[in-house]
Amino acid sequence: MQSNISLKPYNTFGINVKANRFSAFSNTNELAEALNLRKANEPLLILGGGSNLLLTKDFEGLVLKNEILGFNLIEETETDVIVEAGAGEVWHQFVLKCLEQNFAGLENLSLIPGSVGASPMQNIGAYGVEIKDVFEYLDAYEISTGEIKRFSKEDCAFGYRESVFKNIYKDQYVICKVAFRLSKNPKINTSYGAIESELKKMGISDPTIHDVSNAVIAIRQSKLPDPAVLGNAGSFFKNPVVPESLVETIKQSYPDVPNYPAESGKRKLAAGWLIEKAGWKGKTIDTFGVHKLQALVLVNYGGSTGKQVYELSSQIIEDIQSKFGVTLEREVNIL
Ligand code: FAD
Ligand code: EPU
Repeated sequence: MQSNISLKPYNTFGINVKANRFSAFSNTNELAEALNLRKANEPLLILGGGSNLLLTKDFEGLVLKNEILGFNLIEETETDVIVEAGAGEVWHQFVLKCLEQNFAGLENLSLIPGSVGASPMQNIGAYGVEIKDVFEYLDAYEISTGEIKRFSKEDCAFGYRESVFKNIYKDQYVICKVAFRLSKNPKINTSYGAIESELKKMGISDPTIHDVSNAVIAIRQSKLPDPAVLGNAGSFFKNPVVPESLVETIKQSYPDVPNYPAESGKRKLAAGWLIEKAGWKGKTIDTFGVHKLQALVLVNYGGSTGKQVYELSSQIIEDIQSKFGVTLEREVNIL
């Protein structure tokens, strides 16, 4: 157990706050031991890669970093496999391992930062696929009882950037391993516009899962900042899901507003487009701001506080509300 340590190396925003106590665990016994040392009512943060966090103040509690490793083939049929990965595995390395074995289903989710264990938290998604499409089950440690519980896809109640672990079971479980059902007969999914055009650019007309992965990586690298170079946590806001009537109102001033079908007859708007139209794209205030290539991403050029970034996000929310009547919701976890 370490005391009074900087969390700067542990969050991709690169925010320099301190944690009272910090430890890592690489199996459930070590997790149980660390939780035994937790003081009564001591705040707890289970940390993966820190790529979906904004730390706005020192963490006056116990941070436990998940380092549970493992990659196991659990079941194999003629068409499918079930692979299980330890929650502390790096997501993209896990995707590459599956690709190496020609297991299909994760290629569109290439290069998403973070750990396998955090992937179900917000049902990570990109380029037309969400983990719910390939999720089989997960095992999680219940903090109050020390029991390991298995959650099926239905139990997780996945939605757009949502799961039970983000709402009703918030802070109650530690996800220890996650299993995915992948296919030996790939169904290539290039429905997300930019993939088709990227493959064309690469001169590929009959793509393999490896080509799709490479195309997704190229698109991501062309507009999303690399956290190793520029502090950020990906999309800061969710794309808002709004009634059709609101889209019609916005269309009166902006006939080309991008919008997509969403659940129960609603429409999804592109928050990046709204923020750009409102004039925020590339805006820099001292050492932080809105990314130049992707308005949905807030960035820390170095030395900013989480509070500054949070305040910027509040100003953007207010401005988008007043200009478009749309309420933006933060995707990033605020601490
Ligand atoms: P952390 O940031 O460490 O934690 C996130 C939350 O999950 C915290 O509340 C934490 O307490 C909790 N948590 C973490 N691990 C566990 C566990 N094992 N058990 C219980 N709770 C846990 N996301 C997408 O969905 N799609 C994208 O395309 C995408 N692109 C991104 C691009 C960039 C450049 C960046 C920086 C981020 C992007 N993200 C994207 C967000 C981020 O990568 C994902 O949310 C990722 O799953 C976070 O993983 P992590 O291990 O870093 O989680
Ligand atoms: N757009 C703009 N200006 C911008 C950014 C986007 O006009 O500055 C427009 C684009 O032209 C396009 C639309 O918005 O018409 C959508 O843009 P893009 O394809 O870049 O995706 P996004 O909606 O900005 C979402 C996810 C990303 C995910 C990509 C690809 C959310 C909140 N974000 O971004 O996820 O990688 O789609 O599927 O859903 C993350 O969650 O951290 C993340 C990066």
